[in-house]
Amino acid sequence: MNCDVLTLFPAIVEAAVSDSILKRASEKGLVKVTVTDLRSFATDKHKTADDYPFGGGAGMVMKPDLVFDAVDAVREDAKAEGTRIILLSPQGRLFSHEMALELSKETRRIVFICGRYEGVDERVRLSLADEEVSIGDYVLSGGELAAAVIIEASARLIPGVLGADESSEQDSFYDGMLDYPHYTRPAEYRGMAVPETLLSGNHEKIRLWRRKEALRATLNKRPDLFDKIELSKEDRRLLEEIKTEDN
Ligand code: 6GU
Repeated sequence: MNCDVLTLFPAIVEAAVSDSILKRASEKGLVKVTVTDLRSFATDKHKTADDYPFGGGAGMVMKPDLVFDAVDAVREDAKAEGTRIILLSPQGRLFSHEMALELSKETRRIVFICGRYEGVDERVRLSLADEEVSIGDYVLSGGELAAAVIIEASARLIPGVLGADESSEQDSFYDGMLDYPHYTRPAEYRGMAVPETLLSGNHEKIRLWRRKEALRATLNKRPDLFDKIELSKEDRRLLEEIKTEDN
């Protein structure tokens, strides 16, 4: 996964992508993130990045020329692979595990344009962006943290980014369900015991317990997820048990 992040606040993105998992992924050559300061494309001596809105009103608008020039530069550099230009804004399509999986397999250069919330000149949206993406129904001051979220969620799905012992196949959402509960030593802590099955050493029993608890967590916390999950015969039997137990 080879990405470019175009932003007026490079330090926010740098901090988020230069730590732990992403740092290791880039050292292994599995992920490359180039952060570009849009202000470096400003042509005037004050390095102006925004301007007053036509028609008046509060707030400033990010100038289109810096963004177009920065994208041109990436396109020039990425001629062979091609580009996929993503505008980050709260008006975009909601980011999801499915989109993360898709981005983790993207062979084109992924270009994230971090808009400031007050606004990006509409012509960036109309003629530069291939798509517009949001990470949730709330407003951030800019797309920087959204870019970091999307890059991290996607990168950890690339084979080899996580070690075998931290594989994402066990994660919540990997199979559309929430994760099962985890315990470590001590076996009893402040009067709370670890479920006996986990101490039994019986791998089949442990597998069944985990599947059942993943189903229970999903049923209790995110029943909406069942609309998208294909349940096996075993799953349906476990769900019946859960419903009897919890009633
Ligand atoms: Cl991508 N940008 C901004 N500014 N706010 C957001 C967002 C993006 N996603 C959710 N809120």
